[in-house]
Amino acid sequence: MNTTITKEQVEKMSYVQLLAKIKEVNRPPGGKRSIMRVVKDTHIQKDSLVLDVGCNTGYSTFEIAHLVKCKITGLDISPEMIATANTERELDSHKNLIEFIIGDGMNLPFNEETFDVVMSGGSTAFIPDKKKALEEYARVTKTWGFVADINFFYHTQPPANILMEMNELMNINIEPWELEYWLDIYSNTRLEIYNVHQDTVYVPSNAEIKKYCETIANDTDATPDAKEVLLNRLTTIMTLFAENHKYLSYGVFILRKRKEPEQVSLFGA
Ligand SMILES: C[S@@+](CC[C@H](N)C(=O)[O-])C[C@H]1O[C@@H](n2cnc3c(N)ncnc32)[C@H](O)[C@@H]1O
Repeated sequence: MNTTITKEQVEKMSYVQLLAKIKEVNRPPGGKRSIMRVVKDTHIQKDSLVLDVGCNTGYSTFEIAHLVKCKITGLDISPEMIATANTERELDSHKNLIEFIIGDGMNLPFNEETFDVVMSGGSTAFIPDKKKALEEYARVTKTWGFVADINFFYHTQPPANILMEMNELMNINIEPWELEYWLDIYSNTRLEIYNVHQDTVYVPSNAEIKKYCETIANDTDATPDAKEVLLNRLTTIMTLFAENHKYLSYGVFILRKRKEPEQVSLFGA
């Protein structure tokens, strides 16, 4: 149930708790277009079993269920995120398709060869041991199934202060990873790099940031003084994100679990 948010809560909550509380939709890099690409490129069908690692409040999980009506499990390490995902009204009409569970991407609570597709919408970057996470994605994927990992990468090195502020805000430890960083991690798994789609990200103007933050703050069930503090906090956060976006691109990395490594190829993969 949604309870009224107070000024004290807005001031004290961490970034993660705050976004879960106000139900700010956390989309993967590239938003729904990346999800559409994942669905098409990994051939998800109605009878596919899909896992969404780092599902947050379930944006990608719901999108895939809407598009394909397949069974999908959303997993996140944050109990707050899973609690919020489980209160989504959409869930009522998807009870037979979607399940949200608390779990760690580095130690997935599933048997080998469980899923046709394992995807992650920008969350692998938040997992401390990315190689271990990729090994886990591969382990629970069926042979000839796909792993789809969506990730930001820097096309230009960002100023050090931006990165520091991002890490402080989210209590994480991202580094100025470039495309090669991700390709190197994937190359060191038993997964085949099947397709890589790269794109630039949209950088909103200050006017767009203001309008967005006002809309989110106004739509929140908060006391009037809490709304004012929320608006200020959100504006600071989104301005920082927009600054960071100037240096970012993203990739939709499609990886396949083969039975055995493919023979080397000279004239095209
Ligand atoms: C940027 S959000 C991802 C957005 C989401 N995938 C979507 O499409 O809506 C990153 C998420 O990764 C989760 N996370 C961080 N470390 C994790 C881990 N070890 N295992 C699973 N989830 C993790 C965080 O709790 C957070 O919800």
